[in-house]
This record gives sequence, C-alpha cells and structure tokens, in this order.
Amino acid sequence: MNGLGLVWADKQHTLTAVCEGRPVASAGWLLRDMTFDGLPRRAAGLGGVLVHPAHRGRGIARTLISVTVEHARAAGAETMILLCRPDLIPLYTQLGWRCLSVPVTVQQPDGARTSPLTTMIYDLAGLPHPTIRVDLRGLPF
Ligand SMILES: CC(C)(COP(=O)(O)OP(=O)(O)OC[C@H]1O[C@@H](n2cnc3c(N)ncnc32)[C@H](O)[C@@H]1OP(=O)(O)O)[C@@H](O)C(=O)NCCC(=O)NCCS
Repeated sequence: MNGLGLVWADKQHTLTAVCEGRPVASAGWLLRDMTFDGLPRRAAGLGGVLVHPAHRGRGIARTLISVTVEHARAAGAETMILLCRPDLIPLYTQLGWRCLSVPVTVQQPDGARTSPLTTMIYDLAGLPHPTIRVDLRGLPF
C-alpha cells in the first residue's frame, strides 16, 4: 500500500485487540457521506487492519473486522467499504464482503483520481450495490 504514493485519511475510530495487556492488533474506521451511482450513501470506511506478526493466524483479524462492522452499523452506516490488496480478497469474502467492479474515485491533494486498489463492500442496510461508480468523497482509508 505504501508504494502507491497515495495520501490516506486519518481514521475517526480505532479498535485495538489486547493480549496479556499488550496491544496486538488494530483496525480503523471512519464514517463519511459517499456517493454510490450519484446518490448519497452514509458509509463507513475500514482501513489500517494490522495484526502483530507473532499473533497472526489465530483469527484476530477476522474478529476485529467483524466487531468493526458492528460498530459501524451501530453508528448508522448503511454500507461499509474498504480498499485492499488482491491477496486479501479471500479473507474478506469469507466474512461476507463482496468485490466491486465499478470505478472508485478518491481525493488526493492534487485532485480526484480513480483508485488503483480492489474495493470491497459490506451491505448493512439492504441497499443495492453500485453498478456505475462510487465516489469516496475524500481521501482513501
Ligand atoms: C492480513 C492480516 C491482518 C491477517 O491477520 P490474522 O489475524 O493473521 O488473520 P486471521 O487469523 O483472522 O485469518 C483470517 C483468514 O485470512 C487469511 N489470511 C491471513 N493473512 C493473509 C494474507 N496475508 N494473505 C492472504 N490471506 C490471509 C487466513 O488464511 C485466514 O483464512 P482461513 O481461516 O481460511 O485460514 C495480517 O496478516 C497482517 O497484519 N498483515 C499485514 C498488514 C496487512 O496486510 N493488513 C491488511 C490491510 S487490508
């Protein structure tokens, strides 16, 4: 992700997993009014999912992502969205996320551009998936 040269948004919320008093994993999210097929959508952006190498492979990411989704739902998000590397698609697909095939616009300091990353969404309100384009209306997360 760092090699893409993108400027990222600060997250509004961070969930931290603790093991024996030490933080071992975290995930960040934010709530933002985005645009799906030109229509406003109250959406939560998930990012910064990170598990300490010594604690990987135990389901911590899976748990943290699921808890984050429930926090976003409780905060009123209609849809959750994330940008990820292609190798992580199976992890999120197992958790009920789906890949978007439409272009996604992100803001950068020099203007809008189309995201080079895979975008996945998780529906929280029974709303249709976008079929034309999504605008994150801000920095990527
Ligand atoms: C990706 C990461 C968050 C996974 O954390 P984790 O706690 O080990 O994940 P879990 O134990 O919950 O694994 C959930 C599933 O994802 C899969 N998975 C985990 N890491 C993966 C990776 N790097 N690539 C592909 N699949 C992965 C696991 O195999 C597991 O599937 P399974 O149950 O069918 O075996 C962790 O490896 C990490 O912090 N990586 C570096 C930062 C990063 O890439 N963050 C993701 C940004 S979107």
